[in-house]
Amino acid sequence: MAKASPTLEFDTDWEYSSAPESTDHIQIKPQNELFINGDFVVPSDGNYFDTINPASEKTLSKVGHATADDVDKAVKAARKAVKGPWSKMDGAERGKYIFRIARLIQEKAREFAVIESMDGGKPIRESRDVDIPLVSAHFFYYAGWADKLEYAFPGKDTTPIGVAGQIIPWNFPLLMAAWKIAPALATGNAVVLKPAETTPLTALKLAEVLQEADLPPGVVNIITGAGKTGQAIVDHPDVDKIAFTGSTEVGKMIMRAVAGTGKRYTLELGGKAANIIFEDAPIDQAVEGIVNSIFFNQGHVCCAGSRLFVQESIADTIISKLKDRMETLIIGDPLDKNTDIGAINSKMQLDKIKMYVKLGQKEGGTIHQSSYSLPKKGFWYAPTLFTDVSQSHRVVQEEIFGPVLAIQTFRTVDEVITKANNIPYGLSGGVWTDKGSKIFKISKAVRAGVVWANTFNKFDPSSPFGGYKESGMGREGGLEGLMPYVNLV
Ligand code: NAI
Ligand code: MG
Repeated sequence: MAKASPTLEFDTDWEYSSAPESTDHIQIKPQNELFINGDFVVPSDGNYFDTINPASEKTLSKVGHATADDVDKAVKAARKAVKGPWSKMDGAERGKYIFRIARLIQEKAREFAVIESMDGGKPIRESRDVDIPLVSAHFFYYAGWADKLEYAFPGKDTTPIGVAGQIIPWNFPLLMAAWKIAPALATGNAVVLKPAETTPLTALKLAEVLQEADLPPGVVNIITGAGKTGQAIVDHPDVDKIAFTGSTEVGKMIMRAVAGTGKRYTLELGGKAANIIFEDAPIDQAVEGIVNSIFFNQGHVCCAGSRLFVQESIADTIISKLKDRMETLIIGDPLDKNTDIGAINSKMQLDKIKMYVKLGQKEGGTIHQSSYSLPKKGFWYAPTLFTDVSQSHRVVQEEIFGPVLAIQTFRTVDEVITKANNIPYGLSGGVWTDKGSKIFKISKAVRAGVVWANTFNKFDPSSPFGGYKESGMGREGGLEGLMPYVNLV
């Protein structure tokens, strides 16, 4: 059990008693098939792969490996569904299905949250209080649009674009499925969705919910596999649109693959957000904000505030308070309700984080890490700060996707704007100040899809999300999130 900091003045030798969330009510099937045309079907080559719990390295379940043939079956089922009554159905009727899905997710929220934490490593507090409530909120939100598309696009009629291939990552598994499926259904499309290979279980549970909601067969197909399966979706000639969230590298490959095919696409890729703290900011809230911006979900967040810019006059205070706060973060069992920092999603991701921290040290950066010991089994990384780094360092320029913060200082507003924008990414940013004028200046000048002011990592289904530059194209969420799924006539 992790101990709270012995360095804080008020802290005597106290420990938290563990408070693990029960897994008694959870059912994880030992083997999962592919969800195609409303049924669970055996993959065409009969192959399965394991998904593990990254906190224990134990296998949770076997999951079907979808081949190009299976992708073809799923796309055919989706095409049949769009040609059938689904896309011509009255919007209000379509909305009823989506409302039903939203309610069923709410009813099973605890089960979804526990499975999400077991399969991906994120703390139960986050999956329970952030991920799953946002999932049902997204379905509720887009259910509401289904019969109001004429108001979303005044003076225009909309038609669905057809079959959407959707490929999602492992950092917010069910939430990314919701971001993609809900607007597609509201606008009358059919879907072939592929979850990430390390976190397929909640998407497969969602497939059970879709059955229970009586969604017509083929409207949503959920198939599992790794990059090759994703590529087969991208390359399939009868897919009309690709929606992808993941690495910039794969995003670029997808752009190349769809170029000239007429397929539409939206890409939500990497980030390296600037979190900017001015000397007039509320210091303690800002420290909490920094913790939330980079240590939330082990830093597996594309919009994480991985670059911190502190005004020079308060840098020492902020860094010392941050170090104290890092000592009190509890790292360990994702299912323990006390846990702040869970497991790193995979061995591969852990190796990438370690590689970057070594590199940052080699480049001359100074590191500080929380002092507690990490669990022996599983994939873990202690919260880490880098100081003595500058704009040219790779740990400042490149996405690490782990609990690693690069800290720099600044003196003037213009200087910090230049530094914040000196990056190939533009997904998000943050600004902490007492002064409204600075908030307006920064949020306009920082080229990023979202800039939070005196807060960080806040999401709402009505708010569009997406990037500039190498962070991607297109928006998800809000009214804007309907646009990629309709033809306007
Ligand atoms: P990835 O981009 O390889 O995986 C994301 C999804 O794309 C997964 O479902 C994967 O199976 C699929 N995929 C992989 N190769 C594909 C291909 N050629 N064609 C179609 N689909 C393909 O990301 P990965 O390898 O899991 O993580 C690598 C890095 O990417 C992370 O360290 C992080 O920096 C970044 N990343 C960013 C995310 C974001 O939310 N923007 C999410 C996940 C990773
Ligand atoms: Mg897993």
